[in-house]
Amino acid sequence: MDHKKTPYFTALKEYAEKDINPLDVPGHKRGRIKNDLTDALGDSVFLYDVNAPKGLDNLSRPQSVIKEAQNLMADAFNADKAYFLLNGTTQGIITMILTVVRAHEKIILPRNTHKSIISGLILSGAIPIFLPTIIDEELGISNGFTIDNLIKTIDENPDAKAVFVINTTYFGACTDLKSVVDIAHDNNMLVLVDEAHGSHLSFNDKLPIGAMEAGADMSSASFHKTLGSLTQTSVLLAKGNRVDYNRIRVVINILQSTSPSSIMLASLDVARKQMYFNGKKELDAVIELSEYAKEKINKIPGIKLIDKNYFKAKGTFDYDQTKLLISIADLGKPGYWFYNVLRDRFDIQLELAETYVILAILAIGTIKKDIDRLVDALAILSSELYDGNKKLPFPKFRYHFPTMQVRPRVAFHAPKKFVSINDAIGEISGESIMIYPPGIPIVIPGEIIDINVVDMINFYFENGFSILTEQEDDTVKVVDQENWSKEYDEDDL
Ligand SMILES: Cc1ncc(COP(=O)(O)O)c(C=O)c1O
Repeated sequence: MDHKKTPYFTALKEYAEKDINPLDVPGHKRGRIKNDLTDALGDSVFLYDVNAPKGLDNLSRPQSVIKEAQNLMADAFNADKAYFLLNGTTQGIITMILTVVRAHEKIILPRNTHKSIISGLILSGAIPIFLPTIIDEELGISNGFTIDNLIKTIDENPDAKAVFVINTTYFGACTDLKSVVDIAHDNNMLVLVDEAHGSHLSFNDKLPIGAMEAGADMSSASFHKTLGSLTQTSVLLAKGNRVDYNRIRVVINILQSTSPSSIMLASLDVARKQMYFNGKKELDAVIELSEYAKEKINKIPGIKLIDKNYFKAKGTFDYDQTKLLISIADLGKPGYWFYNVLRDRFDIQLELAETYVILAILAIGTIKKDIDRLVDALAILSSELYDGNKKLPFPKFRYHFPTMQVRPRVAFHAPKKFVSINDAIGEISGESIMIYPPGIPIVIPGEIIDINVVDMINFYFENGFSILTEQEDDTVKVVDQENWSKEYDEDDL
């Protein structure tokens, strides 16, 4: 295939350069309306913002330039099919779940999933079978799952339809994907992969293996997170004969706007070309930068870069070193404090903070100066804070997930009431509650709120983390069990 081509972008550029009389939408009419955004960005952004004029294909049923661009994308990932998504991997994950599992069917998945998986479970009505993950109490994060646990879970649930894997977790941990694929396929299960943080893996073999290469059936890759396309753009990849391609298209069209952004689509097309030709080289440079960062950071008193060896020693199969996970606990302040200070005092924007760690993401746009600025700032903070014996105390909660009582869909449809968080112990949660990022729910609809959940939420509240609940006060939404009548019966949903 000719990867020098950018079929969609080229057609869009030609269209933008023509003197077209715009009697279609959008209403800014090729940027004729001047406003604050045209002043800031220039006219061309609006000129390139078209809906679905003749010659630019239709994302709902691609037949020309979008189809060609998607075929090139599939080839770049060694997939059979690629679908451009404009609502991120959130859309890709929901699509994978709705394509593969129906109500009352089982899907095996780790519990440290992103909230979009919970949305997929609510929409599909599937039964989640949660796999225990490797929990690192010292860092306060959960990682991948072990193959032994997968085998045990499959033995107990031979009727499950699919296994869902996160490649990589937000913090860079990878499960042994090839073994997962072999075991799942031997048991007639599909493998669905969340590659929100792993789209770059397929472009450099020094990094952990990508989903398509490992033989997975479907993967949703957030091109926007690490590969230079515009925010919100992801690709859904699919491969092999276990996948129902017709259903994928139907589901995508349920979830996708009929007015996709042409600029976002074009950004995927050109980013694919760039990665195809330069990806390996550019990612080699990122890997070198991560080595450089490790060497510098580990020289700062009280600060440590958590590297591949650390993860492997704790049972994780592989690790993506383009993530800089930095332990700051020995400086006696929690991660969110560093997150704020680095931004407010040093103009450094991190990806996220947890209690004991902060996370920086390196990608093809990262330069050495970015690392130097981070290192310099951390060195200053270390010189101000480190005295050799501060240690952040462990909170009283444990990093364990609660027990599920009913399917997320059943809890979603059940009548609800609001109770204060401290009165919620023993109730069935009616909502997902999480700190964002990373957006991994502390509790999801259908799980029992236990003392650990309450302690955790209170801890995050007290420490200034931003907690995502459906209300703005300190109440939580729980199932109103007294008014839970037959019309919400588990079997009917
Ligand atoms: C693990 C994980 N999965 C899925 C998503 C959703 O991806 P997107 O933001 O592309 O919708 C995220 C987003 O942060 C994530 O962290």
